[in-house]
Amino acid sequence: MLELSSDLKERIAAAGQLHVLRFFDELDDAGRKNLLSQLADIDWEALPELAKEYVLHRPETVIPDDLSPADYFRLDDSDNFDLYSDADELGKELISKGKVCCLTVAGGQGTRLGFDAPKGTYPIGPVTNRSLFEYFAGSIKRLGEKYGVVIPWYIMTSPINREATEKFFREKGFFGLAEKDVFFFTQGTMPAFDLEGKLILSAKDSLALAPDGHGGTLLALRRSGALDKMARDGSEYVSYFQVDNPLVDVISPRFAGLLALKKAEVGAIVLSKTGPFEKLGNFCISKGRTQIIEYSDLPDTLAERRNDDGALLFSAGSPAIHVFSRNFIERLTAGNSLKLPWHRADKKIPYLDNSGNPAVPDAPNGVKLESFIFDALPMAAEVVLLEGDRARIFAPTKNISGVDSVESCRRMISERNAARLAAAGVIVPYNAEGVLDAVIEIDPARVADDEDAFTVAGEMGLCRILPGQKVVL
Ligand code: UD1
Repeated sequence: MLELSSDLKERIAAAGQLHVLRFFDELDDAGRKNLLSQLADIDWEALPELAKEYVLHRPETVIPDDLSPADYFRLDDSDNFDLYSDADELGKELISKGKVCCLTVAGGQGTRLGFDAPKGTYPIGPVTNRSLFEYFAGSIKRLGEKYGVVIPWYIMTSPINREATEKFFREKGFFGLAEKDVFFFTQGTMPAFDLEGKLILSAKDSLALAPDGHGGTLLALRRSGALDKMARDGSEYVSYFQVDNPLVDVISPRFAGLLALKKAEVGAIVLSKTGPFEKLGNFCISKGRTQIIEYSDLPDTLAERRNDDGALLFSAGSPAIHVFSRNFIERLTAGNSLKLPWHRADKKIPYLDNSGNPAVPDAPNGVKLESFIFDALPMAAEVVLLEGDRARIFAPTKNISGVDSVESCRRMISERNAARLAAAGVIVPYNAEGVLDAVIEIDPARVADDEDAFTVAGEMGLCRILPGQKVVL
């Protein structure tokens, strides 16, 4: 039988967490092995302080006194025409030299969507139900063809959805990508605490563990060997996006090029917020450093503050689209550690009652801690912020219906396709209210940008879409 070392037991006791061992003697070898491997991963010496700081006290977000809105490069290129042309050119050159790779964070649990499988497998295509992952895979494949290179794709999963994610890719033949060019890696986890700061057991042989937030991405890149692979492949820039946004440009040449021109360590795309409480992180400056304050952390009075012209003071929102220079990730994770602040979320966490029976609470009974990748922004020597065109690049799938939903996302996919086809000379039907009267899905592996849409419409001799028509290209 596997036994607990006295050293580990002492460390657990010193952290005041001996209750996690209360069923240990009942466990068989497999159960002991599972629990011991989880216990070995915990920094017991740091735990009491963590519980004190984030669980026993409710940490308040400190809003710096000198907080001001961040400035950014505007979408309208009239003031920056030459800069943007240079950035476009350099970005295209970087892509064709194989210096840009893609990174998707897909470790979240998709709770709001009420979908149990990995979120990337969600059938979002408005006609064919193609998955979120297929959108990204198709775009990466098409860009690779266009630029004559292999674009490596890194996908971060959590321990909970890693297996199901890889299985999906295998079943779908990696969507035509080479298996060796898709690199899965797993983010870390954090144990959940009850409201007294005690770790929660989810089973006799398991702590309640949750993904440690996308702030875990940078360290997971190093620990998984992904950073080394990037270095070997010559990837200098990492184009980062979330699994919930099928409209994202998997790589934007202008964005990557601007980062390189400005020798910045991180870039972020900015969208003008639709209102003070849109659920987007807010770009701000404090002490000369760019930072994002999450929508849930910005006090209402600041969110609603307006300039003399009536515009929102904090109007720059984050669609969570970034480019990181690989050197920045290397630098931040050099000692195989990276300290980002924790953010607390009170959750209903299934637990074991005192007799060891599983129980599901009906109110929040515990705390999960997550770190956010954008908390690394202030650590960058230089950050570039570039405004994006919302209708073309951002359709997050967070909820089933309403704002940022499956419904709105499908509609926006159709609308962007309609706009691309209209620009290519195709007549597209709109009703009297100016609403698109067709459902249009285009294979992302054929069309990655407006130029491709023009070519494909021409090749197909497509002149007109009829009202009410469902079109698949
Ligand atoms: C997120 C951003 C918000 C941004 C908005 C844009 C955070 C905390 N906030 O909000 O600033 O304006 O998107 O749509 O992210 N993920 C992991 N591992 C984890 C947790 C999350 O990989 O442990 C991934 C998810 O799979 C997803 C992404 O991170 O791709 C965002 O997570 P989500 O919880 O959906 O963030 P939002 O609150 O929607």
